[in-house]
Amino acid sequence: MESEKKINFKNFWYIACESKELGKNQVLARTILDEWIALFRGDDGAPVALQDRCIHRNSQLSKGWVKDGQLQCSYHGWTFDKVGKLTGIPSEGPNQKKVGSRCAKSYECIEQDGFIFIRLEKNENLDIPPHRMPHYGEKGWQTVRLFNVFKNSVINCAENYIDVPHTVFVHDKIFRDALDEKVTTKVQRKDGAVHIEYIGETDNLGWFSWFLNPKKEPITHIDHYYMPNITSVQYIFGKKEFWITSQCIPINDELTWVWTDLTYKFGPIGVLAKPIVAFQGQKVIEQDIVALDNQMEVIKKYGENFSNATADIIHVFIESIYNAIKEGKDPRELAEKNNEVTFWI
Ligand code: FES
Ligand SMILES: [Fe+2]
Repeated sequence: MESEKKINFKNFWYIACESKELGKNQVLARTILDEWIALFRGDDGAPVALQDRCIHRNSQLSKGWVKDGQLQCSYHGWTFDKVGKLTGIPSEGPNQKKVGSRCAKSYECIEQDGFIFIRLEKNENLDIPPHRMPHYGEKGWQTVRLFNVFKNSVINCAENYIDVPHTVFVHDKIFRDALDEKVTTKVQRKDGAVHIEYIGETDNLGWFSWFLNPKKEPITHIDHYYMPNITSVQYIFGKKEFWITSQCIPINDELTWVWTDLTYKFGPIGVLAKPIVAFQGQKVIEQDIVALDNQMEVIKKYGENFSNATADIIHVFIESIYNAIKEGKDPRELAEKNNEVTFWI
């Protein structure tokens, strides 16, 4: 029965590509949660996602081509329209009676904020729209969009994006200076999300400080995790604001594609700051890739067996949400939890 359908990771929306990557008459191959997908644009320009497997003799549809908004298989030329319906079999000649009502397997698509999102499986019990990228395209705001590949799982990647204690080691000087500073956080788990508010954080952004916060304004810093794969880091310094939002896409259990939007409102210097933000942001992520790829090597050899310190309450909350989904449960039904924890960075 639909109403009792267990939830699973396929019920969420994942980025398949950026809008600009999928041109007219183009087909892209993607993998999400081990599913092979062929992407193209139908005759109305809207994105179409089909299982990358021709129903005829199972050639990959992504090796074919798009003509008039229809995808043609490269093996014997069977053609599929924007809903995956078979529309032509060249070997049948002018009489296409055999075509019938056959269909390729198709997936839902949504185009939003310059991304094309796919959902592999709809579940009425968990109908959450694709995450909006904060302030994307808004007046006065700039976005630098970065793409990176991690040889690690979605959960480890997502946790890294809002892990503060690693920053003084992995990103020493670039992003953060080690100040041996005591920080107090309010950590909340609620509705399948974790929110972390840093209280009384002083200027501790290393190299970034000179243009992020030259006037040394008080900092508001809040991190968010949204199930199962999204993190959003928010900094406010006076009138300036800086968001780092990452969507981690599970290619498989050991491979994750990550799109990161660095979105900010810096006033008149905003446009000029773009190359600096892109360069520094990418450099920081490359340091994380080294750390995360190494972590997965060890997990593959010895299995995953974590041990926690006080600051890891954030990870424990995130993992409780992730594990609930693994068990087919709705994380929004987990009890709300509020903790105040202190740690040193
Ligand atoms: S395998 Fe696709 S047309 Fe034959
Ligand atoms: Fe990092």
